[in-house]
Amino acid sequence: MKCIRSELIGWGHYLPPKVLTNDDLSKMVDTNDEWISTRTGIKTRHISEGESTAQMSVKAAGKALEKAGLTAADLDLIIIGTLTPDNTTPSAAAKVAGLLGVKSGTPAFDVSAACSGFVYALTMADNMIRLGQVRTALVIGAETLSKVTDWTDRNTCVLFGDGAGAVVLRALEGIGTAEDTGILSTKLYADGTKYGFLYTTGGVSTTANAGYITMDGKEVFKSAVGCLSDAAEYVLKDAGASVEALDWLLPHQANIRIIDGVGHKLGIAPEKVIVTVDHHGNTSAASIPLALSESLESGKIRKGQLVVLSAMGAGFTWGGVLIRI
Ligand code: ACO
Repeated sequence: MKCIRSELIGWGHYLPPKVLTNDDLSKMVDTNDEWISTRTGIKTRHISEGESTAQMSVKAAGKALEKAGLTAADLDLIIIGTLTPDNTTPSAAAKVAGLLGVKSGTPAFDVSAACSGFVYALTMADNMIRLGQVRTALVIGAETLSKVTDWTDRNTCVLFGDGAGAVVLRALEGIGTAEDTGILSTKLYADGTKYGFLYTTGGVSTTANAGYITMDGKEVFKSAVGCLSDAAEYVLKDAGASVEALDWLLPHQANIRIIDGVGHKLGIAPEKVIVTVDHHGNTSAASIPLALSESLESGKIRKGQLVVLSAMGAGFTWGGVLIRI
């Protein structure tokens, strides 16, 4: 039986030029390169100097559209996963649609699912493509986490970075097996009882400001490995694919110890795990599309390869996407 699925036809990313090193951070708070490197695997992160989430999104989207050989006028849908939109309203996606020059009437909205935002957004776009509602979708993960980081709190400020990644999806007819290219399976989860382990100290209806990210690092760590591996296992099983058939595990880039834990739990060799946390830090919803675009651009991930994306973040939210490039 023929079915519609979503093929990845373009990708791009943007990182703001300013690089903040662990040594830079040691001049701001009581920390050091050794502590940050061993506990998190992070060496450097990019920090925006005045560029907003929408502006970085436009740059990533421009590259993704160029790679796809399309223009903004070809788009039927824009979704952005972000927890740091430019304004409370309208959405970053609506602003980006205007900046890109997307045709009037094209639906555009944000998904708020913290570090799972891109996986949630990709799933929404895939579902709309599968239903035949749209044919060509731009999906972005973008963050200016530096704006919700308390730069006096050493527990959190060493972790985060800014950036944007984008992909273009197009409807494709396939026979519906794990050998097809495109998105093969998606799965989303949330557990709101874990809300208090990771949140911002403010928000529109409470403090009327964005607040700063605060967390119980140990609780997040404990849940993250299980959530990330469960999501990956689910989509592999759902698509009838085995761990052995997988070319790459691309998990949310939170922390190298979490990433290593997921690879170990799934039985995936370290050389098959994509790691960018060392030079991106944790960029929340931008982390997966940044790592995906960078790995595709460098030729590390190649056409025909099977990749599992797995994300987890505040909410808690988590989810997985299995895709053959
Ligand atoms: N530099 C130096 N010392 C520090 C720093 C720092 N930047 N931050 C904390 N410490 C100190 C603490 O104050 C504590 O000191 P104390 O024992 O005197 O109180 C000590 O280091 C140990 O702190 P722990 O919290 O026990 O350190 P832990 O080994 O748990 O590592 C970390 C902390 C890295 C945050 C870890 O819990 C973790 O990786 N958690 C996952 C959280 C995460 O990645 N969050 C990202 C957002 S969520 C997501 O993306 C899914």
